[in-house]
Amino acid sequence: MKSVESQAEQLTPSGGLRHLLTLEGLGREMLTRLLDQASSYLRPSGTRPARDEALSGMTVANLFFEPSTRTRASFELAAKRMSADVINLDVNTSSRIKGESILDTIYTLQAMQVDVFVVRDASAGIPAFIADNVGEYTSVLNAGEADISHPTQGLLDLLTIRQEQERFDALSVTIIGDIAHSRVARSLAQGLRIMGTRDVRLVAPPGLQPDMELYPGAEFTHDLDSALDGSHVIMALRMQKERIREKSTLPSDEEYLRDYGLTAARVRRARPDAIVMHPGPMNRNVEITSEVADGPRSVITRQVTNGLAVRMAVLAEVTRTRRDR
Ligand code: CP
Repeated sequence: MKSVESQAEQLTPSGGLRHLLTLEGLGREMLTRLLDQASSYLRPSGTRPARDEALSGMTVANLFFEPSTRTRASFELAAKRMSADVINLDVNTSSRIKGESILDTIYTLQAMQVDVFVVRDASAGIPAFIADNVGEYTSVLNAGEADISHPTQGLLDLLTIRQEQERFDALSVTIIGDIAHSRVARSLAQGLRIMGTRDVRLVAPPGLQPDMELYPGAEFTHDLDSALDGSHVIMALRMQKERIREKSTLPSDEEYLRDYGLTAARVRRARPDAIVMHPGPMNRNVEITSEVADGPRSVITRQVTNGLAVRMAVLAEVTRTRRDR
């Protein structure tokens, strides 16, 4: 399998976004352009959503070989609102379950003139592997890759933060939970680094701490309360039990809530205007209490709204790159 860190091929020689495999290697200018484009798709609640013809005549295939609610629904809606034809395959309905290789699935769909593959897979390297094997004018968008990368989640988190705090360089961001197995944390930390944030604090229970080489410049602690002091942004993560083989060493739900759960008392240690984020799916009263998840500092539903806008922006960007080649 091709190295998952390889990302040279996601940009064209002239710097256009052809594939989105990881945020690593993208510049601040590109991220800002995607965030600005996403913002242009946002509409006040209660009004009609943004629509355009940018993907008219194009076909988007959503290939989800791992469960998803938010990412899958938002990529589908994004493509439809931009006038694309859309097909959806998941692990239970594709012929991969009968032993077909991922590439044969891709070649089958390419024969039906699919232009954009949106791929979620539990194995590292699959989006890059597909990107290396698709036709010249086909794009691959990573919709969640093992514990490696979730770039559109990183973008939607950046957009949500930017709506509250214009300057990324002055931010203190605390990420709490199973960072060892989190593609969300990795993509957010990459995005924050690109945007100039220097104070990223990682908090995880024993056994779930990350390889800090993957988080250059970030600090790690087991001490949640001190990490929250002065934070502008707090993100809670769930334990990714589907990626953990040895579950007997994990804290129980009650122990997790007691030691690492985001409670109202803990949120009060952060800045008074701090925002509370969670990528979902949420385990209420484990990593976050309902009082916090539904409370005044929570931006969790706004993250979902922003996710649709970000996916529209990414689809628009790869379409523009294709048109300009
Ligand atoms: N945050 C996220 O990726 O959610 P889904 O698994 O529901 O897509």
